[in-house]
Amino acid sequence: MKHLLSISDLHRDSAISLLNLAVEMQQVNSRDVKKLPALNGRTVANLFFEDSTRTRFSFELAAKRLSADVVNFTAKGSSVSKGESLKDTVQTIEAMGVEALIVRHHHSGAANTIANSAWSKSAVINAGDGTHEHPTQGLLDALTIRQRLKGTSDKGDLSGLRVLIAGDILHSRVARSNLLLLRLLGAKVGIVGPATLVPDDARILADFVYFNFDEALSDNFDVVMMLRMQRERMNSAFIPNETEYSTLWGLSESRFNLLSTDTLIMHPGPMNRGLEISSAAADSPQSAILDQVANGVAVRMAVLYKLLAQETSLK
Ligand code: NCD
Repeated sequence: MKHLLSISDLHRDSAISLLNLAVEMQQVNSRDVKKLPALNGRTVANLFFEDSTRTRFSFELAAKRLSADVVNFTAKGSSVSKGESLKDTVQTIEAMGVEALIVRHHHSGAANTIANSAWSKSAVINAGDGTHEHPTQGLLDALTIRQRLKGTSDKGDLSGLRVLIAGDILHSRVARSNLLLLRLLGAKVGIVGPATLVPDDARILADFVYFNFDEALSDNFDVVMMLRMQRERMNSAFIPNETEYSTLWGLSESRFNLLSTDTLIMHPGPMNRGLEISSAAADSPQSAILDQVANGVAVRMAVLYKLLAQETSLK
C-alpha cells in the first residue's frame, strides 16, 4: 500500500515532481469549476484525533476537488470518548468502504502504526503526528518558497536559498518535516530558539544553529519561518513566561523592520499574534502566510492524486 508518513518517504526527484503536480492543481483551483474527476467513486476519511482548522479543511477540499467522497471524523464527539481504541476506530471506518485515511493524532507514530498494521488496508497520509512530522505542511511550504522566491515558472529545487526556522522547534512537527524537505531540495536551513526548545535531532539536521534570535536574523536569511509556541504540548517549564518569550523570540515590529524587504515571512498557523509574531510582520506584503494556506489545497490534491488515482509509490 502507498502511504505518505514522513518526508523520508520521498527522495529529491519525487518531491520535485509532487511540487510540479501541485502547480497543475493550482491551475485547477484557479478555474471557475474547480473539479477533476480523478477520484470519482473513491472514499477518503479525515481522521482527526487532534484539533485543526487549515489542515482538515484543505484535505477535505483537496479530496472533493478530485471528486472523492469525504467523511470527517473528529475524536471529540466520537466513540473515542467512550474508550474506543485506535484499531477499533480504524476498522469501523474501513468496514464502511473507506480507502484512504488522513490521520492527525497527538501521538508521534500514530499514522505509521495504522499504515504498518495488519488491521488496516487503507492508504495513510500523516496530517501531523505528535511532535514527529507533518509532511504535507513541508511540501506546501516548499512550494510557497519556490514560487515566491524563484518565480512561478520554476520547476526546480530550492538550491541557493537560506531558510531560518524560529521558535518552539522541540514541539514542532512542522519544523522537522521542513528541515528534512528543504535540505533535501538543496536549501540551507538554520534553526533558532531557546536552548530548551531546540532538540538534539534538529541540531544535527540543521546547517546552522543559533540561540540568539537577533544574531540569527542579522545573517540575511531569504525566509524566516516562525513557529507557534505550542503550549498544549509543554509538560514542564520550558520558558520563564510569555512576556519574556515574546521579547526574546518574537518577530516584533522592530525586529521585522530590520529585515530586508525581500525576506519572506512564513508561519504554518495558527498564529499567536503578539507572542511569536507581530501583526506588522504577519500582515505585510512580505508575508506568505495566506499563500501557504492556498498552496495546502493544491499540494494535498497532488498527494491524493499520486497515491489514489495513479496508485504509485511516492518514492
Ligand atoms: C501546525 C500543526 O498542527 O502541526 N499547524 C498546521 O497544521 N498548519 C502547527 C501548529 O499547530 O503550530
